[in-house]
Amino acid sequence: MSPEAWLPQPTLLLTGLSLLLSLAPTGLGMEVMAPATINALNGSSVKLSCTFNSCYKVENKQFSLNWTYQECRNCSEELFLQFRTKIMNKQLDRFGNRVEFTGNPAKYDVSFTLKNVQLEDEGTYNCYVLNPPDRHRGHASISLKVLTKEPPKHDSTVAVIVGASVGGFLAVVILVLMVVKCVRRKKQQRLNTDDQKTEEEGKTDGEGNPDEGTK
Ligand SMILES: *[C@@H]1O[C@H](CO)[C@@H](O)[C@H](O)[C@H]1NC(C)=O
Ligand SMILES: *[C@@H]1O[C@H](CO)[C@@H](O)[C@H](O)[C@H]1NC(C)=O
Ligand SMILES: *[C@@H]1O[C@H](CO)[C@@H](O)[C@H](O)[C@H]1NC(C)=O
Repeated sequence: MSPEAWLPQPTLLLTGLSLLLSLAPTGLGMEVMAPATINALNGSSVKLSCTFNSCYKVENKQFSLNWTYQECRNCSEELFLQFRTKIMNKQLDRFGNRVEFTGNPAKYDVSFTLKNVQLEDEGTYNCYVLNPPDRHRGHASISLKVLTKEPPKHDSTVAVIVGASVGGFLAVVILVLMVVKCVRRKKQQRLNTDDQKTEEEGKTDGEGNPDEGTK
């Protein structure tokens, strides 16, 4: 087994839970999802995963992504990877050519891989996503911890099973929430376009939806 990045199960669970909580009060912005913490072994390659959901398809011309690095909480953010019509690697001295974009915006995935992880790479990695016509910018942060040796492996079969089933459940809940939200937003937009008229009719659109192409 090659030394790869891994997530301790409790972290995964917590991430899932906080993710769910952050989804529940459906804000206006899109949701951007990333693990809160990632542990990587010194010298290994680690994928810093960041995904988002949006009610809209990704158009390369409008889509915008920024990955920034912060060495400490108070440190300024250094932009190292950007998508503006195409992916642009800023080749910061700090990372050299160790940053590789491994996401696919069309699939709502903007992850990147950091190769040959160094102790100095520890810090906060911020993922900013803007997908017009969604007007609000989404944001997630990953705290990267670099380890110099693998932690002792204790029996994790049960943890994996529990983690997987809870994860599966969360995925379903999130999917449902997303669909509900998108339907709601589209409905809201429709209400906005044919404004006053729908005040009364809107409440009774249980069956046929009143799309008469109103002007
Ligand atoms: C981390 O790995 C590098 C080689 O990739 C090695 O030179 C260095 O000593 C390692 N650091 C620690 C603290 O193990
Ligand atoms: C961060 O900066 C603020 C002022 O900008 C300062 O008050 C605070 O003490 C700093 N915190 C740390 C941990 O350095
Ligand atoms: C990325 O940064 C540029 C400025 O460097 C800014 O214009 C753009 O809105 C940012 N995009 C996101 C998604 O934060």
